[in-house]
Amino acid sequence: MTSVSILGPGDEPFVLDLGAPAAPVRVPTTRRYLMCPPEHFTVEYAINPWMDPTQPISTELAMAQWTALKDAYERLGHKVEVIEPQPGLPDMVFAANSGTVIDGRVLGSRFRAEQRAAEADHFRRWFQTNGYHGVVMPERTNEAEGDFAWTGTLLLAGTGFRTDPAAHAEAQEVLGVPVVSLQLVDPRYYHLDVALVVLDDQSPNPLVAYYPDAFSAGSQQVLRRLFPDAVIATGTDAACLGLNAVSDGRHVLLPVEATDLAAQLTARGFEPVFVDISELRKSGGGPKCCTMELRG
Ligand code: ARG
Repeated sequence: MTSVSILGPGDEPFVLDLGAPAAPVRVPTTRRYLMCPPEHFTVEYAINPWMDPTQPISTELAMAQWTALKDAYERLGHKVEVIEPQPGLPDMVFAANSGTVIDGRVLGSRFRAEQRAAEADHFRRWFQTNGYHGVVMPERTNEAEGDFAWTGTLLLAGTGFRTDPAAHAEAQEVLGVPVVSLQLVDPRYYHLDVALVVLDDQSPNPLVAYYPDAFSAGSQQVLRRLFPDAVIATGTDAACLGLNAVSDGRHVLLPVEATDLAAQLTARGFEPVFVDISELRKSGGGPKCCTMELRG
């Protein structure tokens, strides 16, 4: 509640109640995404704490949830490109892990887990046949947008579980953007994109939401300095992979269980768009994991 006191003619101030400060008007920008249908999706190995190869998986349900996500992007006016899924690569649906594209420059990926290694080359070929020249494949382990988040001015870069910290310097050189390293400390939040989401990447003061406990004490300080206005997510938001969200500057696609986060976003002028990703979450994934942004 905001109020102002105006001194009246007597001693009694006249208090004018202005109500809650108005949320800024959020303007979406049209995006281009690359996605991979979960045609071969299963959980047959465990490389993060969400994955249990003994639990039943419905590839059909995963496909329906993925299709609803893709439809939601298209309804919002975004362009979705689709890469051909490959048999034997059950995690290929998580396209965000296979490239970082900023201003048309592409840094490919190099997976930590042997089981996912071959995905990187399929995406490299997709880039090369779709007009991206000079794709650079990294020397260091780099799980792309899983650990890299572009704020419009800075590349936030996670490490601790997957991406090698030396890959941060490599990304800075290849992409020509300033990189800020952040240390992840909770194995459930093994990628940066399950701990932090960029909500506004068009303003000189970018806005993010994050779950502080996923980060080391020093990295929490860095985040507070860089983003004093950030949306602070709760443990409940994080535990449904609610931060694995995708924002176009106004609409934020996020898991249907992330209701606290959605309420905070609404109060800040964003429009939450709920999606059900229960089946993909069994692999530790959510909307953002399925979505690589093609910038420029
Ligand atoms: N099962 C996949 C893995 O552990 C999930 C990847 C999710 N992707 C993401 N961008 N967080 O590698």
